[in-house]
Amino acid sequence: MKDLSSPIYPVIWENDRAVLIDQTRLPEEYTTVAISSSQEMAKAIKIMIVRGAPAIGVAAAYGMYLGAREIDSEDRTIFLAELEKTAQLLRQTRPTAVNLFWAISRMLKTAYETIASVAEIKTTLLQTARAIQAEDLQTCQAIGDNGISVLPKNPAKLNLLTHCNAGALATAGYGTALGVIRSAHTAGRLERVYADETRPRLQGAKLTAWECVQEGIPVTVISDNMAAHCMKLGKIDAVVVGADRIAANGDAANKIGTYSLAIVAAAHNIPFFVAAPLSTVDFELSDGSQIPIEERNPSEIYQIGQTVICPEGVEFYNPAFDVTPAKLITGIITEQGVVEPSQLKQYQILAAQKV
Ligand code: MRU
Repeated sequence: MKDLSSPIYPVIWENDRAVLIDQTRLPEEYTTVAISSSQEMAKAIKIMIVRGAPAIGVAAAYGMYLGAREIDSEDRTIFLAELEKTAQLLRQTRPTAVNLFWAISRMLKTAYETIASVAEIKTTLLQTARAIQAEDLQTCQAIGDNGISVLPKNPAKLNLLTHCNAGALATAGYGTALGVIRSAHTAGRLERVYADETRPRLQGAKLTAWECVQEGIPVTVISDNMAAHCMKLGKIDAVVVGADRIAANGDAANKIGTYSLAIVAAAHNIPFFVAAPLSTVDFELSDGSQIPIEERNPSEIYQIGQTVICPEGVEFYNPAFDVTPAKLITGIITEQGVVEPSQLKQYQILAAQKV
C-alpha cells in the first residue's frame, strides 16, 4: 500500500540500491522493486517497471552507477571501457525518449572528466545520478509554475485534457504535463482533468488516474476516441501533454495518439501545450521525421490483461509514439519559460550547459 501522505517518487536510491515503483502493477497493487545491478535496471526500463521520459533518464543514471560499481578493475582505461559497455546496454532499452541518452551521456562525461582514482569516479557518479534526480524534481516544479502563466484566463476554473502519464510517475516526481495540471489545481485554477485512457498500455486510465486520486485532483477518464466529442461539447479548455523527444524545430514525439489529439484540438481552436524539460529537446535533430519511434510487442494490442481480444490470423502494428508537427503546438512549456515551437532554438546554449 502507498502511504497517501507521501509524495510519489518512481525512483529512489536507498540502502545502496535503486528502488522503483512497479508501474506495471498500478493501480491494482502498489509495490516496489529493488534494483541492484545494471542488468536489472536495463530490464526494468525495457519492460516498463519504470517509464516516462525523465524517469527513464533518472533510472538510467542510477543504472550507470550500478554498472560502474560492478567493475572490478582499478585501472582507469579499463574502467572507462567497461562503463561504455554499461552505457550501451542501457541505450538499447528504449529508443524514443531522449532523456535516456541524455542521462547516459552526462554520466559518461562525468566519468571521463573526473581525473581521480576509479573509487573516486564511482563516488562522483553516484553524486551525479542523485543530482540528475534532484534537478528533474526542481525542473518539473518550474514547468508547473511556468505552465500556469500561459493557460487560458477564461474560464476561471479550467478543464484540461491530458494524454498518457506525464506525471510524478514519469519524472523524478511532480510531473511535466501533469505538473502543470497539479500547479493549476494548487492555484485554484483547475475544475477537472480529463485523462485519455491511452491505448494500448492504458497509462492514462491506470497511472494518471491513480496519481490524481492520490492527490485529490478531480479526474474523468475517457477513452481515446472520445476527445473530439468532448471538445465539440465545450468540455475542454486546453490540452497539456508531455514529450519523449522534441526536435530543434519544435516537432514533438509523445505517446501514440498525441498527434490525433493535436489535430482535433486545432479543429476546435483549443490551445495545445507540450510540457517538457530542456533535457527532452534533441537539438541534433532538425525535425521530427528523424525521431526514432519505438515499436512494441503486438500483445499490447491483442491482449487486455490476460484476455486475447482478436482472432488468430491478424497482423498488428504497434508504434508506441507519434510525432506532433510544431505547427499544431501552441506553446512548449519548459523550466526556462514558455516558447512557441519556432523559438525553441533560443534555449540551445542553455540546454547544452546541462549535459
Ligand atoms: O511509453 P511510456 O509510458 O514511457 O510513454 C510516456 C509518455 O509518452 C509521456 O507522455 C512522456 O514520456 C512524457 S513524461 C513526463
